[in-house]
Amino acid sequence: MSTLTRTRRATARAHVNIALVKYWGKRDVALNLPAAGSLSLTLDRLHTTTTVSFEDDNATDALILDGRPVGPGVLAKALRVVDPLRRRAELAERPVSIISDNTVPTAAGLASSASGLAALTVATAAACGLDLAPTELSALARLGSGSACRSLFGGFARWDAGTRADGIDSCARPLFDQRHWDLRVVVALVSSAKKKASSTDGMGHTRATSPYHGAFVGSVDADLDAAEAAIGARDFSALARVAERSCLRMHADMLAADPPLAYLRCQSWRVIEVVRELQASGAAVFFSADAGPNVKLFCLPESLGPVREALASLVDEGALEGTIETRPGPDAEVLP
Ligand code: PMV
Repeated sequence: MSTLTRTRRATARAHVNIALVKYWGKRDVALNLPAAGSLSLTLDRLHTTTTVSFEDDNATDALILDGRPVGPGVLAKALRVVDPLRRRAELAERPVSIISDNTVPTAAGLASSASGLAALTVATAAACGLDLAPTELSALARLGSGSACRSLFGGFARWDAGTRADGIDSCARPLFDQRHWDLRVVVALVSSAKKKASSTDGMGHTRATSPYHGAFVGSVDADLDAAEAAIGARDFSALARVAERSCLRMHADMLAADPPLAYLRCQSWRVIEVVRELQASGAAVFFSADAGPNVKLFCLPESLGPVREALASLVDEGALEGTIETRPGPDAEVLP
């Protein structure tokens, strides 16, 4: 039995994660169960801080995101996480108040939904007085947004697809903590505007219409093992190879949908071309990109100088809005 304490308010913080082996495709849309596993790195400077309360003067369920009340769609996504927790704590009748602040531009393909739903899960469990294992919290966060299950953990995390219909075995687990490897991640901001298609819609459309989808899903297991081995051995060129291949196969799958789904813009491809030039000049750098136009550059500390310089020229040319420099980040946590 879970313990219900009198605590009815808690604040938690979770950090965004970027997949090195991509998740694209669900085997169950209602439970956010993936067709295959994925593997990610959690980042330090990009995070969401969320306060959840179940206090007597809450009139209805409400979510304030970055200072503004959200629409019913975003609230419904949050309640997918809140509802099972408040039922379990016998607080089902109590309206929830959620106040959430991102250091990330919301919905710009910078994984703000991952940090947001992970912070919400941790804060809600704490406000309900429930002491749950991190993997259980991870499976709950998954109900709100698939990739959020990986943001429970700092450093490198692997999300196992699982095989059960109820999804209990579909959660992330930590592989290597934030101190394992001093990688630097620079976000090349092509646009901080809201993305056009949600990843859930994009995945559904790709699954229904892309003839490449089965091939993408079928290639993931080998990439997961290759990425885990490369990270374990701190083998940068092996990780670069698998991460770029996973990213481009995901985008190829989307581009093969009918009509095609193109998140990358010409400026994104310009950044990728610059990465190729940096690699040719000997820099230890590779790229990744998700359901938005921004490109993330992963590099070793000694290659940060040339990466900075190359991206600064793109900012000067007007091809980029700016850059954000980050490092591996910590576990999600309840704040005092
Ligand atoms: O969890 P969602 O619905 O935000 O989907 C994330 C999908 C990608 O960011 C494109 C890939 C990934 O593994 O994070």
